[in-house]
Amino acid sequence: MSPSFFPQDIIIKKRDGGSLTEAEIKFFAQGVTDGRFADYQATALLMAIFLRGMTPQETAWLTDAMMRSGEVIDLQSIAGAKVDKHSTGGVGDKVSLILAPLAAACGLKVPMMSGRGLGHTGGTLDKLEAIPGFRVMLSVTEFRAILEKVGAAMIGQTPQVVPADRKLYSLRDVTGTVECIPLICASIMSKKLAEGIDSLVLDVKFGKGAFMKRKEDALTLARAMVAVGRAGGKPVWAQLTAMNQPLGRAAGHTTEVIESIECLKGRGPADLMEVTYALTGHMLILGGAAKNAADAQQQMSAAITSGAALEKFRQMCIAQGGDPRVIQDYKLLPTAKKLLAVHAPASASGFVVEVDALKCGHAIMALGGGRAAVADQVDHAVGLANLIKIGEPVTAGTLLCTIHLNDDAKGARAAALVRAAIHFGPTAPERERLVQDLIQ
Ligand code: URA
Repeated sequence: MSPSFFPQDIIIKKRDGGSLTEAEIKFFAQGVTDGRFADYQATALLMAIFLRGMTPQETAWLTDAMMRSGEVIDLQSIAGAKVDKHSTGGVGDKVSLILAPLAAACGLKVPMMSGRGLGHTGGTLDKLEAIPGFRVMLSVTEFRAILEKVGAAMIGQTPQVVPADRKLYSLRDVTGTVECIPLICASIMSKKLAEGIDSLVLDVKFGKGAFMKRKEDALTLARAMVAVGRAGGKPVWAQLTAMNQPLGRAAGHTTEVIESIECLKGRGPADLMEVTYALTGHMLILGGAAKNAADAQQQMSAAITSGAALEKFRQMCIAQGGDPRVIQDYKLLPTAKKLLAVHAPASASGFVVEVDALKCGHAIMALGGGRAAVADQVDHAVGLANLIKIGEPVTAGTLLCTIHLNDDAKGARAAALVRAAIHFGPTAPERERLVQDLIQ
């Protein structure tokens, strides 16, 4: 039990620009969990942190205190390096579905706790639930057993893990305090460190389709998270990835599961494989499974070519109750009633210069495949496929995208958004480097 403080004293101290002590921060994290810090007081402190910031030391203490607000999973008895990946998210980002079985096929243990989608970006759990029977809400005992047997387990956060974040995130969401680097850092890192990992790779996106629009902000967040990992004794590497168009050619749930399986079969789109290989490669090096980037690439390519990574995906599906036959027969996934092809207009010529990821995300929302509020149900069957990429040539009638829809009016709205997302120009833009800095 931490010493008792008056919440108002802690709020006033931060409001006036002071630095909080470890004991005050512990009291806050425990207080929001056990009710000694009322919602209105927690909200006032969150706003004071938003406006005044936190030092790296305060951020590390907040992360640690939030992590200890609930169960910290102990995976030490499981042999092998336990390495996870977290992404700040983006439209079409299905990397986790490929990376977890791929890293497991190369010898790592991947204990992955993920979230659901909210707003224009999808969530890993929702994508996995497109596979009939796939269970993501497993107990910690089941999680450990699957991790040990298969090498990868992908589940939702249990209610016992970081309850302080559940409370704080719900308050931040409705009080204009989400976009705050120390709070984002503590929120993400407390959940990841509570998973029982040995090390972590972060994919921090920036650009039009990302949570962080500016690279400088992504860099600041990446540095803060790497520093918090170091303070907690866990090596963390953060990759900065440009996110100005959807990743791959599919966005939605069924459409993204199909694209992920295609990647595991060696037929993935170049951009998606580039990001997946870069992140998985960092994991293999951090976990001691590869000597260097070349060794990691050789192992990953072999795991795809031999089918070992696809076999891990199949084993994970079976272990989590999913129907593994979807790997061979995509029609067993939730299927939309209709397909609508969106073509380039008669005036189109030249090259694609923009595919606005945010508008594509809104198209998925319009189809019913997104979540505006936490309690919303998502339609797994709807989504986008065959999306054209920046730099590809266009003439009148070129296929820009195939919309999977269950409702004509929603499909028409999505088609209008996709058309508005895609712009043409006379020359192909210079190819943007997707994988940029690595912060260690
Ligand atoms: N994702 C999280 O888990 N927490 C944040 O604060 C922001 C994004």
